[in-house]
Amino acid sequence: MTNRKKYSKLIEVSTDARNNAQAPYSNFRVGAAIEGKSGKIYSAFNIEVSSYGLSMCAERIAIWKAISLGEKEFRRIALVSDADDFCTPCGACRQVLYELAGNIEVIMTNGNGEIKIKQLSQLLPEAFTAETLNNGRS
Ligand code: THU
Repeated sequence: MTNRKKYSKLIEVSTDARNNAQAPYSNFRVGAAIEGKSGKIYSAFNIEVSSYGLSMCAERIAIWKAISLGEKEFRRIALVSDADDFCTPCGACRQVLYELAGNIEVIMTNGNGEIKIKQLSQLLPEAFTAETLNNGRS
């Protein structure tokens, strides 16, 4: 199975999400689709508000949606944007994804339809986690 085939459903769902993004301020549309271990896929897009800092990235909405619908473990997330370059998750999303989904695969796409796949630990080395908090506690 080629990478493209294995990930095509996830990319298709995140592309559909990207097409519905609500990004009137940045005009930078992002779609994300996260696959749970149940096999279910949860998608989301970025949602911006006029108080810009309260806007939210597609990845965080996708994982919060998944968890709130009962999914507990995850396999991978795909990202699609309008940019020519590969869309990579922002730092805040890396942290939240790592804590809530663990070391999942991150499937990044670019405007040429190419894909790049990394483990989340490659994008967030030496992550701060709950284990870090517990270290050294008596
Ligand atoms: N954005 C995402 O949705 N995901 C990312 O990983 C990077 C940035 C959104 C946030 C904002 O609505 C727009 O893209 C421009 O930063």
